[in-house]
Parts: sequence; structure tokens; C-alpha cells
Amino acid sequence: YVDDDYSFEPENNTEFYEPYGALLPAGQARLLRLWDDLGIPHERSKQLHNYVLPIIGFDIDPNAMTVTLPSESRDKFLAALDDFCNILPGHRRRTLGEFQSFAGYANWTFNVYPLLKPGLASLYDKMAGKTHKHAGIYINASIVHDLRWMSQHIRNSSGVHFLEASSW
Ligand SMILES: *[C@@H]1O[C@H](CO)[C@@H](O)[C@H](O)[C@H]1NC(C)=O
Ligand SMILES: *[C@@H]1O[C@H](CO)[C@@H](O)[C@H](O)[C@H]1NC(C)=O
Ligand SMILES: *[C@@H]1O[C@H](CO)[C@@H](O)[C@H](O)[C@H]1NC(C)=O
Repeated sequence: YVDDDYSFEPENNTEFYEPYGALLPAGQARLLRLWDDLGIPHERSKQLHNYVLPIIGFDIDPNAMTVTLPSESRDKFLAALDDFCNILPGHRRRTLGEFQSFAGYANWTFNVYPLLKPGLASLYDKMAGKTHKHAGIYINASIVHDLRWMSQHIRNSSGVHFLEASSW
């Protein structure tokens, strides 16, 4: 198993890689040849090169130094958020497992919306000290208020996060 591996190449520096019958960035072609020599299998669909690359669901543009949440992914997350806090009378509970799963999902969006982190404070507050995965936890007004605050900002945002040169 080889984990994700990234590099860059001037755009005119390409090499023909026979097995895929394609021109690839030179470094990528050489890496694949090395894997071939070592007998490490690889799938063509995973060997990407472009100006913008999809990485863990975000579109990463290293030249513009931006991370963008594609609009389909944003809509999907907003639907999950609405679903999580759309509480019909008598259904104001979610299991700890559901809380954790939603918190993990929201946490992923913080790659693009780091300033929305406080939006999970009430949710974590409610989860604190609980360990029973299937036990129901009450979704109170503070949680709904905070999640709606997040949702409002996400709806009004471009979904583009500019990286700072220092962290890059
Ligand atoms: C790529 O372009 C640069 C700048 O125009 C040039 O200096 C370099 O020699 C070119 N490299 C190749 C492999 O063509
Ligand atoms: C949230 O994401 C960060 C990295 O993006 C990770 O370090 C952290 O453990 C995550 N927290 C939770 C509760 O999933
Ligand atoms: C919701 O629950 C949290 C944690 O138990 C608590 O701090 C907060 O005051 C509650 N909010 C409301 C509106 O009851």
C-alpha cells in the first residue's frame, strides 16, 4: 500500500508513459516506472495531474493557493446539517454515535471554514462525558441555534478558502 504522494512539475516537462499511453508530468512518469520495476500495482484512475486536484473532497489549487468545497459537497453537507437539527416533536434525540458522526463530518468542512469551529461547541458540550454509543442525546435549542448559525454562513460563503503563505 502506498499512501497519497504529491509533487509539482513545470507544465512543459512531460514524458510519455507507455502503459497508460499518455504524456504525464515527468516526475509522475518516473515514479510509475519505479513502481513497475518494484512490482507495485497502481490504477490509472488514481494517477492524477492537473492545475486543480480533488483531495479529500476539496478542490485544491496550489497556484491560486485556495481550497474550495465543491457546491455539490456543500449542498450535501447542508442537507445533513438540516437533517440533524430538523427535530419533529418526539424526535429531539440522536444517539451518541450520530452526534459523533455528524461532528466528524462538520469537522471536515472546517478545512474550508476554519472560523466556524465555534459552531460545534454546544454539540460537544452535550456529548461530553458520554460513552454509550446508542444512548439518545437531547438536541436542545443551543445546538440548533449554533448549527443554524454555521449553516447560514456556509450558505453565504463562496466555499473558497485562501491558504496563508506561512501555512502553505
Ligand atoms: C520549459 O520551459 C522553460 C521556460 O520557457 C524552459 O527554460 C525549459 O527549458 C523548458 N523545458 C522543457 C523540458 O522543454
Ligand atoms: C478534526 O479535524 C482535524 C484535522 O482536520 C483533526 O486533527 C481532529 O482530530 C478532528 N477532530 C475530530 C473531533 O474529528
Ligand atoms: C443545552 O445544553 C447545554 C449542555 O448541556 C447547556 O449548556 C445549554 O445551556 C443548553 N441550552 C438550552 C437552551 O437549554
